[in-house]
Amino acid sequence: MTVRTILRMGNPLLLQCAKEITEFNTPELNKLIRDMQDTMQAEDGAGLAAPQIGVSLRLVIFGVDHNPRYPDAETVPETILINPTITPVDETMDEAWEGCLSLPGLRGMVPRYCQIKYSGFDAQGKKIEIEASGFHARVVQHECDHLDGILYPQRMKDLKQFSYTDEPG
Ligand code: NI
Repeated sequence: MTVRTILRMGNPLLLQCAKEITEFNTPELNKLIRDMQDTMQAEDGAGLAAPQIGVSLRLVIFGVDHNPRYPDAETVPETILINPTITPVDETMDEAWEGCLSLPGLRGMVPRYCQIKYSGFDAQGKKIEIEASGFHARVVQHECDHLDGILYPQRMKDLKQFSYTDEPG
């Protein structure tokens, strides 16, 4: 079990565009995925992107099964997603509160596409193609933004809705 340090907003590595993964199922990649899974579990996260632990590669993991940080959230299947591409199904967006392990203790109201198609590869290099909506779609958009150096405050429309989680409202 290896829990890695999560970089926080302000670290320039979080602002980089991450590189594509070219070799699948290598010992290095599998170790990186295990470390990310251990780290996400230890921090009770809904998802984690490789750049958040200082590795600038296009790899995200996510999954939600009754997460205490998101008590009302729908479940999201445990997924390892490499070199992802996201396509919105239409232009419809909605807003909801998001948090991020790189901005501990904060939350913000973030607009996201309601329905997306996403594709990429799993850890073995097998093609993944999924259509997702709601919280599932939101998590994927949030995590994949990390691969392009985007943190959720950059997506926000109104910084009045940026707050500490332990403050009501
Ligand atoms: Ni995040």
